[in-house]
Amino acid sequence: MSFIVINFFMTQSFKTFLKHTAKDFHNQSVNPPVVRASTIIFKSMKDIRKKQAKALKDPIGGHYDYGRQGTSTTHILQKILTKLEESYHVFTTPTGFGAVFLAIFSVLRPGDEMLVVDPVYHPTRLLTEDYLKEFNIKTVFYNPHDLKTLENNITKKTKLIFVENPGSNSFEFQDLGKIISIAKKNKILTAIDNTWATPYYFKPIKFGFDMAIVSATKYYSGHSDVMGGSLAVNKKVFNKVRAADKVTGLRLAPDDAYLITRGLRTLDVRLDKHSANAKMVAGFLSKNKKIELLYPYKKDSYNFRMWKKYYSGASGLMGLKIKSKNINSVRKFINSLKLFGYGYSWGGFESLALHQEFRETGKRKYMNLAGDEHLVRLHIGLEDPNDLITDIKQALRHLK
Ligand SMILES: Cc1ncc(COP(=O)(O)O)c(C=O)c1O
Repeated sequence: MSFIVINFFMTQSFKTFLKHTAKDFHNQSVNPPVVRASTIIFKSMKDIRKKQAKALKDPIGGHYDYGRQGTSTTHILQKILTKLEESYHVFTTPTGFGAVFLAIFSVLRPGDEMLVVDPVYHPTRLLTEDYLKEFNIKTVFYNPHDLKTLENNITKKTKLIFVENPGSNSFEFQDLGKIISIAKKNKILTAIDNTWATPYYFKPIKFGFDMAIVSATKYYSGHSDVMGGSLAVNKKVFNKVRAADKVTGLRLAPDDAYLITRGLRTLDVRLDKHSANAKMVAGFLSKNKKIELLYPYKKDSYNFRMWKKYYSGASGLMGLKIKSKNINSVRKFINSLKLFGYGYSWGGFESLALHQEFRETGKRKYMNLAGDEHLVRLHIGLEDPNDLITDIKQALRHLK
């Protein structure tokens, strides 16, 4: 028996909670151990039945009788995330995309329709637009900056609005309050991919969403060496998601849960620093006439207003829309960066750069990208921001 305390005193801030929760007083370790198990062992058959009866009565209490349902390591992470999200419960999945799938699979049935934001994460687009069509589920994409395209496409069959905020790679911020009121008026369920902000900067369930997804691969783990996902839910959809969770086998492994819990200890510290560094880099980039900054920095834009209205902070991921007739000079700019790694994913401690080609955005209906405009994505890491700016400055010399 371990003795692990998750207590959350309402007088404490969440920052303090993250440092003090989940100490293991039985094993006398500051972090809870990794409990690996396929068989969950009991002293008697009677004990198994007792546990199963408890699980029926208290489905979020962490009563498990088989390794696929998790061990204490995964349940501790779920409890911590439930506090962070201020949700009814959090399901954890082996990847962030697993959480996207679980949300959609839980609430849609053949014959249903869903509305999805046009600049959604590319694999989510492939799932909703192409794959679900084969199951007679229709997807309509709405314009993030024109919610008439959302409202006008609602039919009796519409069962889910799937939001991602900001838009993937193009960083449009939407009027989330309006989306929730449209959904409530029409009795439609809502889900949001909240990976960019995490509930540290915006709490979707408290705000009115039914489901909220975070790719734990990014800021939760923070060290670019683990994959995972979380799906926070309110009480209304809990039973639907629980039923789907039972039959999909989309469960996070204890080793990964341990690493994510360890990463969460410093979530606030890392995000505050990503944010401060990104703000400095944004300040520098905003002065460049060839670049349109896709980040909530310039106060006079609709995106800034929508971000300010709903978010308490901005993370380290930003876009640059570069105007240049010379594509080779754009490529040269990116390839000349020395402190930015080239690779997918983000949310780790290091800076990364990507040139977004047509592959990622080509299917979009409302994408305003002229032939001489190019999208670059930067993840601003935890390096000294002055070094990052010096690096970007030298690389920008190649841009024509
Ligand atoms: C916004 C967003 N949602 C979901 C995912 C998927 O997460 P994972 O890579 O953990 O499956 C990603 C990954 O890049 C993402 O950027």
